[in-house]
Amino acid sequence: MEVKIARHAGVCYGVKRALQLAEQATEGEGEVHSFGPLIHNPQAVQSLQEHGVQVAETLDEVGEGTLIIRSHGVAPDVVDEANIRGLKVIDATCPHVGKAQDAAQKLSADGYFVVIVGEADHPEVSAIRARAGEGVIVVQSADELPPLKDRRVGVVVQTTQMADVLDEVIAELLPRVDELRIFNTICDATSNRQAAAAELAAQVDVMVVVGGHNSGNTTRLSQICRQVNEKTHHVETPEELDPIWFNGAKVVGVTAGASTPSAQMAGVVERIEKMS
Ligand code: F3S
Repeated sequence: MEVKIARHAGVCYGVKRALQLAEQATEGEGEVHSFGPLIHNPQAVQSLQEHGVQVAETLDEVGEGTLIIRSHGVAPDVVDEANIRGLKVIDATCPHVGKAQDAAQKLSADGYFVVIVGEADHPEVSAIRARAGEGVIVVQSADELPPLKDRRVGVVVQTTQMADVLDEVIAELLPRVDELRIFNTICDATSNRQAAAAELAAQVDVMVVVGGHNSGNTTRLSQICRQVNEKTHHVETPEELDPIWFNGAKVVGVTAGASTPSAQMAGVVERIEKMS
């Protein structure tokens, strides 16, 4: 079997930056915690724990030392409270996520009702929402939009969403609202990975998407690939690969989510090649 890797795949700028900041933090004094898992990749988070970066779900779990704000960002009051408690705060929020946060804050300050396109329970979306004031709603599809008739509406998007979903929301809003302002905050790393994954999935017999099962961006890559190739499988580790998937396959495509370390993708590729 030939294995082809997508032109854009795997760990992105924002995740690399967060991992580097975490590594640097462990070189200093005292305990190091991330506020929630630093990235959505259980194996990477486990490795960080082994190197001294513990995961805290609340500030009460952090007695002292350093608090790393993860790549998805947090609500401003978490940072304020961490500062009050005397913690050293390292902000590993991805700069692209920061742009989405700023956009929501600006829209709210300018009096717009804010529509966030994304997953309501995703930490990135919670952090954006926390900056959008009272007039805000999160939707995952155009079907979830309230009437919003004659309102001034501003749109912000979770950085890892699919462009198609944003297009549908805008098409639905345009005829309804008085004024529409759009911040397309889908990041380039996401768009490039999604386009490259769809392109490769259309050319191969079987497509494998590598990344955390809890990773939104990896799950969306998997959905995109499945739309063009029903033989698409999402795995987190090489052990999850099932040889039956590759029966009769000549070419296998591999891509990986933006939160998937290179070694994890390499491990999956190696196992597929050994199945040949
Ligand atoms: Fe940042 Fe985009 Fe990666 S928002 S964390 S560069 S997927």
